[in-house]
Amino acid sequence: ELADDSLRPTYHVTPPANWLNDPNGLIHWNGQYHLFYQYNPTGPFHNTIHWGHAVSDDLIHWEDKPVALSPSPDGPDRDGCWSGCAVDDDGTATILYTGGRDKKQLPCIATAADEDLSSWVKDPDNPVIEETPAEPEVLRTEHWEGEFRDHCVWREDGVWHQLIGAGMEGGGGAALLYVSENLRDWEYRGPILSGDRDTAGTVWECPELLDFGDRYLLHVSNYEDVVYFLGTYEDGEFTPERRDKLDHGDFYAPQSMWTDDGRILTWGWVPEARDVSAQWDAGWSGTMSLPRELTLADDGGLCQRPAPELTDLRGANTHHDELRLSSGDRRRLDVESRTFELRATVRLEDAEAVELSVLETPDRAERTPVRYTRNSEIFVDRSTSSHDQQATTATQQMRVTPYDSPLSLRVFVDGSVVEVFANERHCLTSRVYPTNEDATGVSLAAEGGRATVASLDVWEMESAWDAERDPSPREKPSI
Ligand code: FRU
Repeated sequence: ELADDSLRPTYHVTPPANWLNDPNGLIHWNGQYHLFYQYNPTGPFHNTIHWGHAVSDDLIHWEDKPVALSPSPDGPDRDGCWSGCAVDDDGTATILYTGGRDKKQLPCIATAADEDLSSWVKDPDNPVIEETPAEPEVLRTEHWEGEFRDHCVWREDGVWHQLIGAGMEGGGGAALLYVSENLRDWEYRGPILSGDRDTAGTVWECPELLDFGDRYLLHVSNYEDVVYFLGTYEDGEFTPERRDKLDHGDFYAPQSMWTDDGRILTWGWVPEARDVSAQWDAGWSGTMSLPRELTLADDGGLCQRPAPELTDLRGANTHHDELRLSSGDRRRLDVESRTFELRATVRLEDAEAVELSVLETPDRAERTPVRYTRNSEIFVDRSTSSHDQQATTATQQMRVTPYDSPLSLRVFVDGSVVEVFANERHCLTSRVYPTNEDATGVSLAAEGGRATVASLDVWEMESAWDAERDPSPREKPSI
């Protein structure tokens, strides 16, 4: 039943069924890429969170594994195994994650019981941190005694370092630093950065610090957006120099993997933008973004490009060397698909805008326009994306720095996901829910003048899943 759902992505990582949120424990281990994720095996809603598990040999073909981590009825993670990360502790794959019990958020540790990372041994002494810091005081809410969760762990000068996300009483979000010799006894050092709540939210979830050599990137998820800061980090203090959003659409709580060949690949949770009852009927909720490779450009800005491996999923191709569009002229491409990559170079001669419309019905009643304007902005207009009254109609937008002129654009469409990469720098991930099975067209138009779309390619994308997926993978009990 899930297989016939044309809104369900096929080349993004999705749960076999039911609920998915944050990516967790990303690790390249024994030549395999492991992606764990926040998973509810009982239905497409957020409750009693386990860690789901998918593995890949090549970053593009994925295989479902049994549930890797489950709440222990008598443990500090009784109410859920929330987000965390994986590290290599001298040859032992080890995860740190947040357990939930009553109104407490309790950092826990577990080690892999096998080389394929399918079962984990929880430390009998969990939690590894019992109390939230006294100074600055961690925010209390009606749900939590302290907003204090999620883990980013790395080794620096022979010592383990850890960030935990938090909210501060009377302040905004914070990324709290701890240090340890053994991953089990942690000493609190204070916030590496905290934000003012007006601009950066009251709580920072899933903080992550990435080392780019002479610059560092810190990103945090503030309930709305993923805000990143580029700057310097020294002696437990982060000094921001630039700030932006990692993605301008439906993208949250990302985490990164350092691959064996030294790349940083980042996945984010792409939540649904439709009603809970529609999620219930679909039987699944949430998908991962595509993996993005993060690098710093020579000018110090952040580059984000789709992992190069993704080109291996490309199938049948439609190519145009050059499409010249005059004002008001609309070209419908010879493409009928909901699973494709489009790559193009757009030159706005004297046009006001170029509109690329995807997931379009023949009468154009349902369509999702992606508009690139003279003001260097990209809009994803969802007002006509779906006849479903419950689906969101909000327009999303981002500013595109014209480093390259013309605009280089890559758009990945996969069922209900539209993922836009502009100039290899700016990303906007969107969810749309066309109701017509023939909402599969692609068209291009120029507005208010002439434009050229050069080297336009559309590739049908193959599925990431070889085998028929079992919607309810057997649960391996945690030890
Ligand atoms: C972010 C988040 C994390 C938490 C997890 C729970 O989406 O709220 O802060 O660990 O999801 O599923």
